Amino acid sequence: MALNCELPPDEGTIRGEIELSRGATASKLAQTPQMGFNTWNSFKGNYNESTANQIASLLISLGLKDAGYNYLILDEGWSDMARTTDGYLQSNQSTFSNGIVPLAERVHDMGLKLGLYGDSGILTCGFRPGSWGYEERDARTLASWGVDYWKYDNCGGFQAMSNAPQERFAVMRDALERSGREIFYSVCEWGFQFPWHWGGEIGHSYRMSGDITATFINETGCPCKTAYCLNTGYAGCSVTSILRKMREISVYQKPGHWLDMDMLEVGVGSMTVYMEQTHFAFWAALKSPLIIGADLRTLRNESLAVLTNRDVIAINQDSLGEPVHFVQGVSVEGALQVWAGEVKGGNVVLVFNEKSYSQDVDVSLKELGLGIQRPVRAKELWSGKSWGKIDRVKAELGAYQTLVFRITR
Ligand code: GLA
Repeated sequence: MALNCELPPDEGTIRGEIELSRGATASKLAQTPQMGFNTWNSFKGNYNESTANQIASLLISLGLKDAGYNYLILDEGWSDMARTTDGYLQSNQSTFSNGIVPLAERVHDMGLKLGLYGDSGILTCGFRPGSWGYEERDARTLASWGVDYWKYDNCGGFQAMSNAPQERFAVMRDALERSGREIFYSVCEWGFQFPWHWGGEIGHSYRMSGDITATFINETGCPCKTAYCLNTGYAGCSVTSILRKMREISVYQKPGHWLDMDMLEVGVGSMTVYMEQTHFAFWAALKSPLIIGADLRTLRNESLAVLTNRDVIAINQDSLGEPVHFVQGVSVEGALQVWAGEVKGGNVVLVFNEKSYSQDVDVSLKELGLGIQRPVRAKELWSGKSWGKIDRVKAELGAYQTLVFRITR
């Protein structure tokens, strides 16, 4: 039996000169942020082939595929605890005993795409085989199975930076490019080594934070809330702690290599509808990938309505690919956040009541740095209410509510 710690094969793994500055190749598969479903937030490693089939069917029957969610991504758990005796990745022999090929075929027949999870270290976070030293071989295996998406994690050694993440992640990028199949490359480095300076050269998307949890506010988890802070503990990020970090790094958001704010917790924990709307609106408007983490078998109608709001999804998938930015001048620390940006043919403005109680807000559109001088046409995307002409947002917002205005110019 192969041991996890066996020496990697010499065959086929190309190391040495790794070129980092090649952002352009990334764009084709990622013209807009990717959308889909991932098993991790709800299932952790506890799922099997029949669960995957159920989720695939629900993506169709709940209208999620029609709304744009087309990747079914199996996170930690799909693979076996050991490679085959001759050193190949293999599916979990008890829960995916038929291998990945039949599943990939079924998923493709349904018009969906299949994603899998792996790791740039010796082991995955769940102590399954990582791809360190096996990158060429594993990329070819994925291609031969018909895999369309590869989430690539940061566990399994090298935290001393003896092998910098830039290098580890770039080796797999090159291997995927040589694999003979177009495979979306989702870099999962937890925002650990300031990936907004290099992740875009490597992945179609790259994580900017530690792991999200189904909490709206968590002051003790996820110590790194600012971009300056090197992660000292990567898990436990709440919706608002990830948003706090984006204040500083939304400027790095670029089409083709999306800053990934982690999977959605809409429908996972016990957030209120306003919290779920706020979470979804910011992920959409900041151009994060929209990857559902909820168990679709038990999804509440309210959460489904949030996830399928076409107007909000259209902001995320807008062809300009411009994120909103925090408008410091009109925001009030700890009470009111205003974010604004451009979309094709107009603008988007988010007004977020950060308080646990209702408050009246009054924000002049002229003060948002959008060049708005006269009253404009606007629609609020959660209520669907439209105005022929407005020059300010005057409203009472509920606890943690966010209004999203699409302005037409
Ligand atoms: C890390 C990643 C998560 C998930 C788990 C699986 O924590 O950041 O998104 O993939 O590993 O073990």
